[in-house]
Amino acid sequence: MTDCKGDGSVGLTPLELYEKLSAHGDTIRALKTENADKADIETAVKLLLKLKVDYKKLTGEDYKAGCPPSDTTVPSDNGPASDEGDDLVNPWSVSTSSAKGVDYDKLIVRFGSSKIDQELVDRIEKVSGQRAHRFLRRGIFFSHRDMHQVLDAYENKKSFYLYTGRGPSSEAMHVGHLIPFIFTKWLQDVFDIPLVIQMTDDEKYLWKDLTLEDCHHFAVENAKDIIACGFDVNKTFIFSDLDYMGSSPSFYRNVVKIQKHVTFNQVKGIFGFTDSDCIGKISFPAIQAAPSFSNSFPQIFNDRKDVTCLIPCAIDQDPYFRMTRDVAPRIGYPKPALLHSTFFPALQGAQTKMSASDATSSIFLTDTPKQIKNKVNKYAFSGGKDTIEEHRKYGGNTEVDVSFMYLTFFLEDDEQLEKIRQEYSSGALLTGELKKMLIETLQPIIAEHQEKRKQVTEDMVKQFMTPRKLDFNY
Ligand code: TRP
Repeated sequence: MTDCKGDGSVGLTPLELYEKLSAHGDTIRALKTENADKADIETAVKLLLKLKVDYKKLTGEDYKAGCPPSDTTVPSDNGPASDEGDDLVNPWSVSTSSAKGVDYDKLIVRFGSSKIDQELVDRIEKVSGQRAHRFLRRGIFFSHRDMHQVLDAYENKKSFYLYTGRGPSSEAMHVGHLIPFIFTKWLQDVFDIPLVIQMTDDEKYLWKDLTLEDCHHFAVENAKDIIACGFDVNKTFIFSDLDYMGSSPSFYRNVVKIQKHVTFNQVKGIFGFTDSDCIGKISFPAIQAAPSFSNSFPQIFNDRKDVTCLIPCAIDQDPYFRMTRDVAPRIGYPKPALLHSTFFPALQGAQTKMSASDATSSIFLTDTPKQIKNKVNKYAFSGGKDTIEEHRKYGGNTEVDVSFMYLTFFLEDDEQLEKIRQEYSSGALLTGELKKMLIETLQPIIAEHQEKRKQVTEDMVKQFMTPRKLDFNY
């Protein structure tokens, strides 16, 4: 394989470098399909990363396959602040060139958050009196901000509330969308605290080619899937921005306060907005920030503005909350704490996350057992070897195998998971057998979800979505 050194890009024009990068991308894809040696693939990926960094230096743009460089050579200074290096992670896209997925340790450094280490997991167990959820035991929730402070306060009988959300861009939700809700439900149960869920139908209207009515309809339909996760109606308020914003003076006052304390320059730096983005987008981050402050919900918190908020979310939402934490002290509110999750990988591999707009990349909550079986068998990227003989000899690679990754999200039994990992790595377990285990794990989970969703009536949705007092003692 080519050595990293000596294969530089010195003296190349942007277009030449672009062509070199696309050719190298092809090489890597070929290596992967040939199941080449791991070391060779890694060397090739390293070179790709280096070329990408060179490309960004030379053109000021991120390399994108299929998009040759524009002829401007002036580096733009208002791109999303988080795009340096290789992994792209922002609220609108997630991608990496590594089959293992995004490098989450690097992301912690780049975003300035903290790692959820064993000590914190132990502490959550101690304070809640419950065994840690598998998402914590397995590093799926891997990063946090201020979780220790939340636990300190809780130990001193100062309670907190949970806030999470969903951008309703279609009726179709996939299993990846459930991750934050499954975890939030666990947090609600073990800490016995209220929860607010924001449905950002306004956000989807601003970003997508959809009508207001569509977005609002999707918010209500998605709320049914969320309710099916088992939230306690006495402790949960789900709201559509389109409905709640206009009806709640307290909420809107907070939105305006936030808007006054964040400049266009700041959101440009955080989100990469440009002069041609509509003004709705530019002011939207204030709307996603507002639920982090307890007095946005006077019906729940009796106008108290000092109840701490904990936000479980996927790491791509962090830019919103970096902004929120930055303004909080300036408008006299506590900063929200955060728990960040990794992404749920697409069936085709961890280079990108599952997408609701690509039917072959996702397992939908409406899929039949047969569809689940076919999709896993047909599309789930395998870390196994091409022939049974080779597989038995060299074993499979669980670090890039999507079926194995999905099992880490959904298989509850730690011992069983470890056994599968060992047997797959040694070659004792074949890809087909691993896929069968995943299929048999997912089918009942999805079927049960469908059963629970069927039981969610319009009346229940209305109840969850009505502003009202919740059970909350402080
Ligand atoms: N912007 C999020 C999305 O598109 C929705 C959202 C709003 C959210 N508030 C949140 C997600 C708080 C997590 C936490 O999905």
